[in-house]
Amino acid sequence: MNASNPIGVFDSGVGGLSVLHEIRKALPGENLLYVADSGHAPYGDKSRQFIEARSIAISEFLVNQHAKAIVVACNTATGAAIATLRSRFLMPIIAMEPAVKPAVENTKSGVIGVMATSRTLASDNFVRLFARYSAEVEILGQACPGLVDQVEAGDLSGDKTRLLLEQYVLPLLERGADTIVLGCTHYPFLAPLIQDIVGPMVAVIDSAAAVARQLHRRLEVGDLLADASGSGTEFFWTSGTPNQAKPLVSQLWQASVEVYHLPTC
Ligand code: DGL
Repeated sequence: MNASNPIGVFDSGVGGLSVLHEIRKALPGENLLYVADSGHAPYGDKSRQFIEARSIAISEFLVNQHAKAIVVACNTATGAAIATLRSRFLMPIIAMEPAVKPAVENTKSGVIGVMATSRTLASDNFVRLFARYSAEVEILGQACPGLVDQVEAGDLSGDKTRLLLEQYVLPLLERGADTIVLGCTHYPFLAPLIQDIVGPMVAVIDSAAAVARQLHRRLEVGDLLADASGSGTEFFWTSGTPNQAKPLVSQLWQASVEVYHLPTC
């Protein structure tokens, strides 16, 4: 494996771009490959076996593109497939973990809300995370069906998105939450609206920057860091329709980019 090889990143759709932003900030010299499995989003209502099979197929595609490391920029795929991916692929595989630890450190009320897909909340990883911290604070898991679809549709601030968010977030506030964890990589794109709903006294946090730091550490330990003085490139693929994906990916990436069709995998 060569340090000049790219890093592969994938998600069920465009949500993982929130993680890609942090990776780009932390690692400006790296070449990045991004796969949005938008043809199969949302993962949240699919079976564990389906998500696992998609995660393996996309990882194989990224390995064929010579990825030196893979970032599973999806909490739901992490919950469903991370053990299998790590047993099948030898390179560093970096996973998501909802930012419960920093939330526990931040909360004054002792109540934190975790917004995620129902599959993430039911995953062994999350059950373990919950068990580790639930003696210290009250952790309220909130499944948020429909939010991923709103982000995939590019509706980050419309009435329907606001109504859905109010329905999910206000009960957390009523139960005393002063810290909200965004446990799905799509949700950081809704953070301005969420912050507007919860007000300035409630912290809204996610784990994208921590994942980018973890990636940096793993590459450093493996002597796989690219020359930081260069400027890295990005390539984007979708299993959806590239012409439809291009404006949304460009909007969320904040630059006009090409999006290629993911070869059948
Ligand atoms: N971005 C994915 C996550 O972090 C969304 C899951 C889905 O597609 O339902 O969980």
